[in-house]
Parts: sequence; C-alpha cells; structure tokens
Amino acid sequence: MASFLQVQGLRQAFSAPGGDELVVFDDINFEIERGEFVCIIGHSGCGKTTILNVLAGLERPSAGNAFIDGREIHGPSLDRGVVFQSHALMPWMTVRGNIGFAVKSRWPDWSRAQIDAHVQQFIDMVHLGGSEDKKPSQLSGGMKQRVGIARAFSIQPKMLLLDEPFGALDALTRGNIQDELLAIVQQTRQTVFMITHDVDEAILLSDKIFLMSNGPRAVLAEVVENPLPRDRARATMHHDPRFYELRNRLIDFLVNRSKTYAMA
Ligand SMILES: Nc1ncnc2c1ncn2[C@@H]1O[C@H](COP(=O)(O)OP(=O)(O)OP(=O)(O)O)[C@@H](O)[C@H]1O
Ligand SMILES: [Mg+2]
Repeated sequence: MASFLQVQGLRQAFSAPGGDELVVFDDINFEIERGEFVCIIGHSGCGKTTILNVLAGLERPSAGNAFIDGREIHGPSLDRGVVFQSHALMPWMTVRGNIGFAVKSRWPDWSRAQIDAHVQQFIDMVHLGGSEDKKPSQLSGGMKQRVGIARAFSIQPKMLLLDEPFGALDALTRGNIQDELLAIVQQTRQTVFMITHDVDEAILLSDKIFLMSNGPRAVLAEVVENPLPRDRARATMHHDPRFYELRNRLIDFLVNRSKTYAMA
C-alpha cells in the first residue's frame, strides 16, 4: 500500500546571478507513514524550509512530486497545519481569536458555541488557560509559539509541518514546550514533519530522523530510525545507552559526513 506521504524526485533550483542555476537539492525521495513523527536535520541552507514549503503547498518544486493521502499537493490546504519559526499570529486578535479564526475557516458551518468549545480544548491542551483574551503583544515568545501549536492542531490536519518552532526560545521554555508537544503527539498520533537544528530535540520527539547533506545539490543522505521506545521522556532517555549511540551518529553526520555527499 502506498505511504501516507510520498515525495518523489524532488528538485529545487533557482537562477543565480550571471545566469547560472543554483540547485538547492536534487532527487529527494522519502515516505512518511500515518502517525509517524519525522525530524529533518541538516546544515543551514541545505533546503529544509524549501522542502517544508513544498509540502505545505506554498512553493512549487522545479521537478518532482509530493502526494499526501494519495493526492498530489498543489497548494495550501487545511489538510496541513504549519508552524513557522517565528510565530505568525494576527497581532490584532486575541489568543482565542487567532485559534477561532482557523477553526471557523475549517468548519464554516459551526455555531459560535461549537467553535468556542473546540478552541478552548486546544488552549487548555497547551496550558494557556487564563490567557484567552490576551493579544500576541501581551504574550512571551514561548506563549506565542504555544498559540501557534494550538492553532495548527485545532484544525485537526492530516499532517503537521513544523519549521524550527522552538528555535527562538530559551532552553528552559523550549524543554517545557517539547514535553507538551511530546505528550500531545503521544495522545493524538498526529503525523508530523519537523525541521530542527537540535539533535536532542529530534531524539526526544521523532520516530525517524532524516539527515540532509550540505547544499548546494543537497541530498537526503541517511534515514535513521529512533530505537528509543515511544514513551520516552526527557528526564530518563539519557539512561538508555542507545540514546548516546544515536546522538553520536547524528553529531558525527553533521560534523564529518554531511559534506561528503556533494555530487560532482
Ligand atoms: N526564492 C528563492 N530564490 C533564490 N534562492 C532561494 C530562494 N529560496 C531559497 N533559496 C535558497 O535555497 C537554499 C535553501 O534555503 P532554505 O531556506 O530551504 O534552507 P534551510 O535548510 O531551511 O536553512 P536554515 O537552516 O538556515 O533555515 C538557500 O541557499 C537559499 O538561499
Ligand atoms: Mg530554514
């Protein structure tokens, strides 16, 4: 049976000054199963955001195709929830308003009471109860990212696309939100594709880790299965010797091997 998400022969090239072509990546192929949490890691500029934008339907590839649930991705859809590195909340709307707006777009026939109840459930899920009426300017960075996550989950997308959602947060806040995301994903079995620079974050959250070589002409160099059980927790996962094996493999890739895949 075909996988839930299929990416075939993806290539992205831009015209560079002087008429040359900058090939960001070429011949990227991968599959993601329903309920899987995949992290993608690679050095800056290798094309991670470009791939995520293609999956979101925000960018067209130069070649190749992406299919979700058997249908080709042509443009943005409420099938896919996206969380960007910097929050993309509407500044004039409250927390409730930002999430409610998405919910109303998804289910235009719902009554106000239905929308409010649904929104509240997702506000509670990210522990933002009490901040429903605040505007983004009144929230901390971590709280804003939580609203973005609640909004993305609230439309119950087939797939969640996360572009370094915690990159701008301090370590403590980041740890707390990672724990929340892990709990939510363990509960919902949401399919997730997430970009991160943080090896420990990838080990904590993912079932599978995609390693991208350095650009230009980056390739999907390795796919690593996470051997740690899915009920892992931040506080204890480093007691498992497999944690260090995996961590060393990922770091060794980033430091030593990511350069060696460049094509002629
Ligand atoms: N519209 C565009 N026109 C020209 N070049 C582009 C365009 N969009 C992206 N690029 C180039 O494509 C490459 C990949 O960019 P992308 O943002 O996907 O990288 P990334 O892996 O997400 O990097 P980072 O980790 O820094 O976020 C970069 O060299 C970038 O300059
Ligand atoms: Mg990026």
